[in-house]
Amino acid sequence: MIQFEHRPGILDLSWGHPRPGLLPVRAWAESGANLDWRALTYGSSAGPDPLLEWLGDPGRTFVTGGASHALALVTQVLARPGDVVLVDSPTYHLAFPILADRGLRIVQGGSVHQVRPKLIYLVPTFGNPTGASLPEERRAGLIEAAREVGATIVEDDTYRELSYDGPAPESLWSMAGGDPVVRLGSFAKTVAPGLRLGWINAEPEIIARLTGLGYVHSGGGVNHTTAVTMGAFCAGGGFERHVAGLRASYRTQRNALVDALRKHLPQLDVPSPAGGWFVWLRLPAGVTAEALLPVAEERGVSFVPGPRFWADGSGGADRIRLSFSLLSAAELEVAAARLGEAVAVIAHNR
Ligand SMILES: Cc1ncc(COP(=O)(O)O)c(C=O)c1O
Repeated sequence: MIQFEHRPGILDLSWGHPRPGLLPVRAWAESGANLDWRALTYGSSAGPDPLLEWLGDPGRTFVTGGASHALALVTQVLARPGDVVLVDSPTYHLAFPILADRGLRIVQGGSVHQVRPKLIYLVPTFGNPTGASLPEERRAGLIEAAREVGATIVEDDTYRELSYDGPAPESLWSMAGGDPVVRLGSFAKTVAPGLRLGWINAEPEIIARLTGLGYVHSGGGVNHTTAVTMGAFCAGGGFERHVAGLRASYRTQRNALVDALRKHLPQLDVPSPAGGWFVWLRLPAGVTAEALLPVAEERGVSFVPGPRFWADGSGGADRIRLSFSLLSAAELEVAAARLGEAVAVIAHNR
């Protein structure tokens, strides 16, 4: 499988991938079964009407090939090489190469007023890697600060739909009423990553720049056939039914991992994320992620070391990211027990 390496004997908590059994194989095939020729023509520039209507922000939505593509497009139309992008700290590590592709200068952490960036990138809701959400009062402050310095906030809202303990916090996009926020959405976590389908919410002037891009002019709307199929999948409540099932399954997986970590690593403060796929752990004093990883892998469990989520690797030495999305509740319990043993070995050898 591209983007995935199965390592026999290792319960791998490093992949932010959906549980294969939760992918809607049959429902997706049924959604595509009754489409007519219109699904196979060139598509209209911002995306097919049924999907745009379902997404529900008329004139302020552009369909993309996922959130990664959305981020690449936003950097293309809103920034130039050499511009500064202020990124949250820690943040989604695979955003760094996308920002670097456009030649942006990545500044990690620091105040909006001091850095005065062109773009501000963050995952404020059920974030990757922390699972945490930006508190409401800080949301309002961030929007105000961005307005003051003339920056655009790029809100990566990939995990919004996967909430387990009640509704997700209001998006920055909705709080601000649009400008200065651009919001990135994705169907990768809610339906399937292989579809490469997502969207951008932005003010109409920005949408016009996206629809006016040469490659859209030449080739039509992005990923049209998949977008049309998604329109059919979502019609009649199909998306909501599917996501309700996902929430129940991922909630069970989250609980299994959090409970088992609390049992096997009682000395740690184990947060229970209210949504998304990740548990962000602070290791006991003196145990680093780098030292822990080989010991953990010897015992058959793996994770992503914290420094990966800093562009220059300078933070997070005592942090690890655990994803509960891919494995079953039973596997997650075994994984936590193995992690507990590995931490005990390192702490004992100090
Ligand atoms: C925060 C964040 N943004 C974007 C992506 C990628 O989304 P897509 O598959 O839609 O490109 C991910 C997937 O891991 C993610 O965690």
